[in-house]
Amino acid sequence: MLFGRAGCRPRVHLVLGSGLGAVAKRLEDPVEVPFHELPGFPATSVEGHAGSFLIGRTAGVPVLVQAGRYHYYEGFGTDVVAAPVRVGRALGARTLVLTNAVGGIRRDLVPGSLMLVDDHINLMFRAPLAGPVAQGEARFPDMSRPYDAALLAAAESAALRAGTRLPRGTYGAVAGPNFETPAEVRALRTAGADVVGMSTVPEVTVARAGGQRVLAFSIVTNLAAGLGEGAVDHEGVIAYAEVAGGTLGALLEALVPALEGTGEK
Ligand code: HPA
Repeated sequence: MLFGRAGCRPRVHLVLGSGLGAVAKRLEDPVEVPFHELPGFPATSVEGHAGSFLIGRTAGVPVLVQAGRYHYYEGFGTDVVAAPVRVGRALGARTLVLTNAVGGIRRDLVPGSLMLVDDHINLMFRAPLAGPVAQGEARFPDMSRPYDAALLAAAESAALRAGTRLPRGTYGAVAGPNFETPAEVRALRTAGADVVGMSTVPEVTVARAGGQRVLAFSIVTNLAAGLGEGAVDHEGVIAYAEVAGGTLGALLEALVPALEGTGEK
């Protein structure tokens, strides 16, 4: 098995979204497995890198870091979008930590801020678990607490220690790749979404079906459509992801050792 080279069993699977590349670079004793070396892992269209796993240690804790992910908007089905989560679980990760970029809908969630996801609304119009039940997954998983309460508390303590503002909120998931219309953003707000993004929910759903504990962070890269002065553009999203990504990366590195003490089995 390709991952045998790493010689350790990761406890935590960390999915890095835009702006978080530095976390992968700081990993101790990294062994990299590019996606293209894995069967069933097509080339991604993500800018900058083709996607890879790195197994290493953060503050001594064995972690599986995933740089890059698959999205529905690239034309992939759930089998591909969820494949990295299933690999992490097969390697032994009991905890999945996800990061993503979002447009801010709630007033306080301005570009450059961070949000801890404490619930979500799936408006991707796709059911990630439809089809045959995958190995080790439940047919009808409970979703009454998709984001683990103890992990949320650990993240909040780490943010408090670091002096980083980290409010909680609800992630509204859309398929993309177009940004929303102002009317869609008003509908999302009315539905209860605090931010809007194009990833994360399929991975969370599959992780919960497989019994993993989940935590997710959003980087607000822009005001959602209709809430700011101008258009929403991808360059602005990337620029803000880089800025807030530094703060979130440091927070994640402080948090990983603390996850150990949160009742992880
Ligand atoms: N909408 C959807 N996804 C996003 C946005 C947005 O405004 N910003 C970053 N990802």
